[in-house]
Amino acid sequence: MHRYDFGPDFIWGTATAAYQIEGAVDRDGRSPSVWDTFCHQKGRIKTGEHADIACEFYDRYESDLRLHKAMGLDHFRFSISWSRVLPDGTGPDQGGRINEAGLAFYDRLIDHCLSLGLTPWITLYHWDLPQALENRGGWPNRQIVDWFAGFVDVCTKAFGHKVRHWIILNEPLAFSVLGYFTGQHAPGRRSFRNLLPVIHHTALAQAEGGRVVRRNVPNAVVGTTFSCSPIDSFTESARDQAAARRVDALMNRLFIEPALGLGYPTQELPFLEGIMKRVAKPGDSERLAFDFDFIGLQHYFRAVVEHSYFMPYLWARDVSPLRRGVQTITEMGWEVYPESMYRIIRQFSQYEGVRKILITESGAAFYDQVENGAVNDLARIDYHRSYLQNILRAKQEGLPVDGYFVWTFLDNFEWAEGYRPRFGLVYVDFRTQQRIIKASGRWFQQMLAGQLAHQ
Ligand code: NOJ
Repeated sequence: MHRYDFGPDFIWGTATAAYQIEGAVDRDGRSPSVWDTFCHQKGRIKTGEHADIACEFYDRYESDLRLHKAMGLDHFRFSISWSRVLPDGTGPDQGGRINEAGLAFYDRLIDHCLSLGLTPWITLYHWDLPQALENRGGWPNRQIVDWFAGFVDVCTKAFGHKVRHWIILNEPLAFSVLGYFTGQHAPGRRSFRNLLPVIHHTALAQAEGGRVVRRNVPNAVVGTTFSCSPIDSFTESARDQAAARRVDALMNRLFIEPALGLGYPTQELPFLEGIMKRVAKPGDSERLAFDFDFIGLQHYFRAVVEHSYFMPYLWARDVSPLRRGVQTITEMGWEVYPESMYRIIRQFSQYEGVRKILITESGAAFYDQVENGAVNDLARIDYHRSYLQNILRAKQEGLPVDGYFVWTFLDNFEWAEGYRPRFGLVYVDFRTQQRIIKASGRWFQQMLAGQLAHQ
């Protein structure tokens, strides 16, 4: 396999997120986000860790991006920390202040990307809501839609003249449901009462953010991302198959369908009817829709589910790889199942309104060891090669998939899991901050230089 198989316009990059790599959480006027607060609460993060320091990317971005360039990947996706730019969460027209030092950091970062020939892709929301806004109600408060639009306005006015590629939200399902319903992610709230408002405000912010980017950035290429997995039913029984359809509606359809003007998937998930009946305001159906230039799919594993009475509303539960006797799992416990990449691209290509698909994240955490100064992560090479082969298959069948962003550039802070799962193409020693390009990083380098034979 080499890059020419994918065509000259295929995008090769890595993806990162501010809180997971930057560190410097109290520097130059940044205020805390919900993740700072959450990590410092006892029992929230498995290992008791936090990302106060993380990869020190805030200070090391110049040498880090040179490593990125050396791997031959020429697109770099990063997110802007909302509370670095707007410490009160809002800009001057909503009563807050702009932190010029925060903007200056991203300005330097963007300029450095451009000087290296790396194309910057900005994610506007990768889960780190300013704590100041959580204190005012967070995502359950409808005002969040305007707060977010205000933040997008500030970012696009500051950088729209040099950055064309914008991603509105990173995995809306993860931060809404895990943040406000199951409580596994920040801000760690657990209430069913919040669930429908959070979903609706997130879906509105997704479209509203898109409109602000379009308004402020000439020639913008604007997309948003979704976590997604093909859902298989454990048995052929009608009950399990219906369970799989419900989980599919929740995991794969909940946020894209309103954006496409199709509304929420209420047929499979009747509890969602409460959104339009009780949460929405007149005109919201139209406001939910936005014509994205591309859809970012973030795909790692397939899910196998069965019917269950233990899970209210969903009436379904996951059948773990362990229970299915599957050996090929990552450090996250996720099944390695390359064909699921092809299947999920095919599934999303079926929507008429989806014009272009980019894989904005895929990757694997394995137990990496440094031996003689090297990390020989062959399992990660296999992962990327086999998932890429399935992208190629989709592409050769004419499906509109046009890019691959590896999750991730540097080993980093994996949210509630702490630092243990390492996804990077570059190994980070968190005691010394030393970096080592892993064998997988070298594999990309050679493949992108056209030096790998067909295999
Ligand atoms: C999803 C998220 O966008 C990212 O922040 C996370 O680290 C990876 N996938 C791996 O779980």
